[in-house]
Amino acid sequence: MQDLEKKIAEMESSALKAIEEASSLDHLEQLRLSVLGQKGELTGILRGLSSLDKDVRPRIGQLANQVKVKIEQAHLDRKDRLFQSHIEARLSQERIDVTAPGQIMPVGHMHPLSQIRQEILSIFSSMGFVTADGPEIETDYYNFDALNTPASHPARDEQDTFYTNIGANVLLRSQTSTVQIRVMEMSKPPLRIIAPGRVYRNEEVNARKYPLFHQVEGLLVDKDVTFGQLKGTLTAFIQALFKKQVKTRFRPDFFPFTEPSAELDSECPFCNGKGCKTCGGRGWLELLGCGMVDPNVLSGVGIDPEEWSGFAFGMGLERLAMLKYGVNDIRHFYTNDLRFLEQF
Ligand code: DAH
Repeated sequence: MQDLEKKIAEMESSALKAIEEASSLDHLEQLRLSVLGQKGELTGILRGLSSLDKDVRPRIGQLANQVKVKIEQAHLDRKDRLFQSHIEARLSQERIDVTAPGQIMPVGHMHPLSQIRQEILSIFSSMGFVTADGPEIETDYYNFDALNTPASHPARDEQDTFYTNIGANVLLRSQTSTVQIRVMEMSKPPLRIIAPGRVYRNEEVNARKYPLFHQVEGLLVDKDVTFGQLKGTLTAFIQALFKKQVKTRFRPDFFPFTEPSAELDSECPFCNGKGCKTCGGRGWLELLGCGMVDPNVLSGVGIDPEEWSGFAFGMGLERLAMLKYGVNDIRHFYTNDLRFLEQF
């Protein structure tokens, strides 16, 4: 039995030495398996105990178990230390330099259309107008009938209006004037609302037209409202928008929901009326449509036109933004080209 004892003792010292010298956690694990694993050397000896003579079995067994505990302990110690140095190596390699300059994230800003919308809303809000909203998918009642637009009106033609397959009377609104009706149905006069939003028209794309664009609608309903008040309100608005004293003029026009109706022009703020590229040499800019609310529209929503009167106006956001910022193609607003957007 001397042999076996000697073998165990040799195995112990060589295992302990190898463990102490193990240079990585993987290497250490291989060593553990070769001694203590299922097919390990010491495991083999322990398994073979039952075949030894009875008189040597306890001694060899005790010795083998002591060596097993020792090796296990040495393995755990070494594992701790290797792990520690592994962590230290990583910490020193992966150290964060808090003094290194940061990565600068580009800071964006509002889209030019949002900017001009905000500006328009804030000008009207200073005059007591409250922002209102309505759906973009509408029925022809809100888009046409309630706005005093007869069934034969050319704007109803498919060429201008996008109809949907949700129902024969369901369409994408072609004007924000729909919000006038929705607001008057819901609330009692006096009213002062301003309603920005998207509108849709089946039009071919070019530098001035796009099938989706934005409008801002205004509506005031009160007692004894006059055309003079309409002109005063819109002139104040335009001067605030262009930050300049400019003359305004009304040209007669037709809209089904206003009577009388007008187109409002302002003196070109870029050339002071002398004629330039922006105004096409005319000295005047066509800015928006407006008029006195047609009594039919009021009575249609249950407001007595004998008691109440009002004015309304509607403008295209893109058109105003193009004029104000000198943009020559409406498509720039939708192509998301940073070279364009960064200029605002
Ligand atoms: N809804 C008209 C359009 O899309 C614009 C407009 C004209 C609105 C006159 C109004 C108005 O409220 O009074 O062209």
